[in-house]
Amino acid sequence: MTPTLKTETTERISRISVSSTMKVAADADKLRREGVDVVDFGAGEPDFPTPDNIKQAAIRAIEQNFTKYTPAAGTAELKKVVCDRHTADFGTHYKPSECVISVGGKHVLFNLTQALVENGDEVIIPVPYWVTYKDIVNYAGGKCVFVDTDENNGFKLTAAMIEKSITPRTRMVIINSPSNPSGAVLDRDEFEKIFHLTSKRGIYLITDECYCHFLYEGSPYSIASLAGAKETVLVAGTVSKTYSMTGWRIGFSLTPEHIASAIGKLQSHSTSNPTSIAQKAAVEALSGPQDSVPVMLAEYRRRRDFVIPRLRQIPGVTCNMPEGAFYAYPNISCALGKNGINNTLDFANQLLKEQFVAVVPGEAFGTEQHIRISYATAMTELERGLDRLQKFIEKHA
Ligand SMILES: Cc1ncc(COP(=O)(O)O)c(C=O)c1O
Repeated sequence: MTPTLKTETTERISRISVSSTMKVAADADKLRREGVDVVDFGAGEPDFPTPDNIKQAAIRAIEQNFTKYTPAAGTAELKKVVCDRHTADFGTHYKPSECVISVGGKHVLFNLTQALVENGDEVIIPVPYWVTYKDIVNYAGGKCVFVDTDENNGFKLTAAMIEKSITPRTRMVIINSPSNPSGAVLDRDEFEKIFHLTSKRGIYLITDECYCHFLYEGSPYSIASLAGAKETVLVAGTVSKTYSMTGWRIGFSLTPEHIASAIGKLQSHSTSNPTSIAQKAAVEALSGPQDSVPVMLAEYRRRRDFVIPRLRQIPGVTCNMPEGAFYAYPNISCALGKNGINNTLDFANQLLKEQFVAVVPGEAFGTEQHIRISYATAMTELERGLDRLQKFIEKHA
């Protein structure tokens, strides 16, 4: 008898979906390969090269044969440098035993949910959210509890909004400030209230600090610096955006030791160590000169100050002023419900087909009237792309 091959993939794989961001990116890429002049506002990554001192550190690592396994949770050297950088920037006091080096910030968040979320546990996620949160919580067997914010109020989150969603099953809250996609920054006093609220109730507070250095007003700040925060605040960090190192794949967690051990154990049976060479590059990024960061931030500010007024000139379009990160999140509802454009996914597809501009539909981030425009791209591209966007909206609004 021929054994029957069970071809279905697991139930847990069916809980996650390929994000609609991927589809637009793939379509844009296909057009580009066909020779079409596409303006790409989709990519959420800096257009700057990785700074030279960081590249040189990686080249040295190769030349010195630092090309073998390292400890699964990262080198002692990099863990110490991560802790020292966090102390220098935010006044926190983490020990290397509380730090794990992972394969990018996304891997950090995946590890944290795998280590802490049981079947049926609730995880509070403010909307609009970075698309991955939803999928990693679902994959872990958790239940996403979405908290809507109001664009008329700058997508601002408050502790009162979180409080209403807490139940006895709440396990964690995920905060991303500055936010991808809205650029909103959580007011410091509200962040502190959320910390007190969650710590009092025995709920973990993940702070995704991916864009924490790209803040247009005030100085970068970490909720982990509050007295008593170390027990319940879990820091998810990455060098990807701060040092324009998206391809190097280095992220880090700062958590209580028992969670760091759990993550280290998981990593030891999945990825093993992040790339040895990339770890050496990250040591240089975090301990070497920091002057590339304000230079990039100044350029993002210049672009933001061009993009937002330009979007607001388009009749029917509204857009909040991002306070951090490098995304604009305009409301394009004026062009929905007509000409077969029924949702933001249709909008993004049609915009790509007619005007060759790639954007990410708001559905990917949990809202129904927005698109995300990354302004981590050259000014000339922004000018060209926004002219085309205006033409498209004028035609369909
Ligand atoms: C909000 C947010 N968190 C985390 C990440 C993860 O970054 P990486 O895995 O590239 O380090 C990203 C990347 O786009 C992000 O936007």
